[in-house]
Amino acid sequence: MKNIALIGMMGSGKTTLAEMLAEKMKLDYCCADEYLEEKYNRSIPDIFEKDGEDGFRKLESEAIRDLAKRRNIIIATGGGVILREENIDTLRENGFIIIFLNRSIESILKDITTENRPLIKEDKNRLLKIYSEREHLYKEYSDIIINNHDCLDETLDKLYNSVA
Ligand code: S3P
Repeated sequence: MKNIALIGMMGSGKTTLAEMLAEKMKLDYCCADEYLEEKYNRSIPDIFEKDGEDGFRKLESEAIRDLAKRRNIIIATGGGVILREENIDTLRENGFIIIFLNRSIESILKDITTENRPLIKEDKNRLLKIYSEREHLYKEYSDIIINNHDCLDETLDKLYNSVA
């Protein structure tokens, strides 16, 4: 059995690399944000607007509980999954290896898209503050830290070697 969850900031490459790693390892892949949007048939901006961030976090935890039941899967989590310790507990109880994909905020700011990301829609420089508040959680909750220096193939190899 191999269950892996990628954690890290918005724009760190979790979705792209989780999909690539899953293909390389012949595992299933799921993006928690996409799963959540399909499950509730609502977009993330809509949930933030109508239910606030708290409402979103509740739905996110439900989505993680659903996804953690799966086996042989790589989950790309949303950047805020570490804000609720119960999410990490759920992943661990189900045997997930948690990998922190760490990309520099300077690189993220160069190419991140903001329209579907309510927390930075008004000002993407908010990422700096968000990262400073979360960095210790990403580090504390991860089993492995992989630096993404913007070369996808290199990062994929590092990810693969860390779990193969
Ligand atoms: C969030 C990250 C987003 C999404 C939501 C909140 C966050 O996911 O879950 O906008 O709090 O960092 P990505 O990390 O996939 O962008």
